[in-house]
Amino acid sequence: MKLIRTYAPYLKPHSRAFILAILAGVIAGAASGLGIPFFTQKVFKAIFENTERIYSTWYLIGVAALLPASFVVRGIADYFNQYLMSYCGINVLRSLRQTLFDKLQTLPIAYFEKNHSGDMLSRILTDTTQIQTSTMIFAAEACRQPFTVIGGIGYLVYMSYQQKESLFLLMFMGLVPVMLIPVKLIGRHLKHRSRQVQATLGEVTEHLSENLHANVEVRSFNLQRKQSLKFGNLLYKHFNFFMKQVKYEKLTQPLMENIAVIVLAISFVYAYKQHIDFNTFIAMGMALYFTADALKRFMKAVNELQKAQGAFERVDDILAIQPEITSPETPVKVKKIDGNIRFEEVTFAYGDSPVLKSLSTEIQAGTACALVGPSGAGKSTFIKLVPRFYDSQSGCIRIDGTSIKDFSLEDLRENIAIVPQAPILFNDTIANNIRLGDPNANMDQIVRAAKAAQAYDFIEGFEEGFETVVGENATRLSGGQRQRIALARAFLKAAPILILDEATSALDSESEAKIQLALDTLIEGKTVLIVAHRFSTIKKCKTILVFDGGEIIARGTHDELISSCPLYKQLYERQI
Ligand SMILES: Nc1ncnc2c1ncn2[C@@H]1O[C@H](COP(=O)(O)OP(=O)(O)OP(=O)(O)O)[C@@H](O)[C@H]1O
Ligand SMILES: [Mg+2]
Repeated sequence: MKLIRTYAPYLKPHSRAFILAILAGVIAGAASGLGIPFFTQKVFKAIFENTERIYSTWYLIGVAALLPASFVVRGIADYFNQYLMSYCGINVLRSLRQTLFDKLQTLPIAYFEKNHSGDMLSRILTDTTQIQTSTMIFAAEACRQPFTVIGGIGYLVYMSYQQKESLFLLMFMGLVPVMLIPVKLIGRHLKHRSRQVQATLGEVTEHLSENLHANVEVRSFNLQRKQSLKFGNLLYKHFNFFMKQVKYEKLTQPLMENIAVIVLAISFVYAYKQHIDFNTFIAMGMALYFTADALKRFMKAVNELQKAQGAFERVDDILAIQPEITSPETPVKVKKIDGNIRFEEVTFAYGDSPVLKSLSTEIQAGTACALVGPSGAGKSTFIKLVPRFYDSQSGCIRIDGTSIKDFSLEDLRENIAIVPQAPILFNDTIANNIRLGDPNANMDQIVRAAKAAQAYDFIEGFEEGFETVVGENATRLSGGQRQRIALARAFLKAAPILILDEATSALDSESEAKIQLALDTLIEGKTVLIVAHRFSTIKKCKTILVFDGGEIIARGTHDELISSCPLYKQLYERQI
């Protein structure tokens, strides 16, 4: 039911096509259940009982044509049924994937840390496909087969009445519930197995995507064999679950067929005893066959639905997430932000133990503040709280006196430019990568930003200049070049608050000097939070916060801290 409830809204925009598909299905169903046996009987009667040969050839041709005619009707209706069903199905798949993708955009960063991207890929691509294929098979069969069954039963009732043969009908009626038993027994297993099949396929995708990302490590640590073995094991696990699913799925059909054929055998004996004439027997037999076959197909479709259910649960896991970090219902209107940032007794933990312990501090608008401290002290965590990548468990962060939770997420992030430790560039041109800072920027502005970020020279050095496509993960650029493009983005964004997580990786002295130069221009007049490792950067900042073990243990200028904070002095001496 939940599957249908979630699925129905996606189908709604295509309800016309869906109704037409059902109508075509009804026609196809009726043509085989009612039409074909009916015409068969008419044709056989005209041909085999016409011992005096009284019918004209034209009449006979007409009668004979009834059979192909009913097949043609069935064929055309079948075609439209399947075409339209596919149309609806693929549209639903499209919207379902879109919804899932849009849902992912709303999820907090913590979600992506807990869940593997490969598994998410698999849920969005293969689970949705499973849902689509299975539900469309179900929908196509569910609208056709019941009518074949009704048509067939209708015809059997009619014939029974005409021939005063109720036993034939009764026998059939008895057949229906018996045929349902295997389906009922198997359906439960199928749903369970389908979930396992999809989950193991997720693991396969996960390993594959990890392997692709780690291609350098795989080669440098000679992990090829190990990786291949693991992939093989995962494939085998998937294979095993798949075969378990097949084992149950494929049992339904022969079981149902065997039951049906036993009934057919009994009907031979019965027909002989009752002196039922040949063409009546053939027509009733055909009606019986088509009805039983339709029932079998319908039940197979029910099995498909069970499989869809298994996949649906995995998709629904994503759909059902309520994002924890959202905009307030009535956000504060933002005109211009000065950029005063205040932390008030902020405590934050990723898991159980707090990483930031009741921090309070204030950064004046328009000033630069450096965060220093040993690795793991909580510097990156501190700056990630400002754009609400995570929400603190207690305490409050205010910008210009307003709690950051009172701004809409969009307004808040619009006013913060972030240059992360390892910036990601999209597989697009350099110009478009810089343009992320301001989608409306013209080429002049982009060039200006690149110049300010000391990136202009190397960009112009490329054959295609700003139109150079950087490649996946920007592997064609050096670490320093990537950083400078990220800085250019930040320049272009021109947000009042700038957050920088300075890369620890050693850059060559020329790159380093250029980045320093770029930073000088970039931080001018902005409120800057910078996790800095280089004292050349740190010294330029008006305030320095010293972090240790999730606490701010000291605050001051470089000169003040050198004399008052042993940890700071130690860090400084280590670098010079
Ligand atoms: N996403 C996360 N999930 C769980 N724990 C995390 C996560 N990110 C960081 N931590 C933990 O929080 C603590 C602080 O990490 P943080 O990244 O803030 O340190 P840092 O001061 O920036 O260190 P570095 O100078 O090495 O970048 C560390 O103990 C780290 O293991
Ligand atoms: Mg860090």
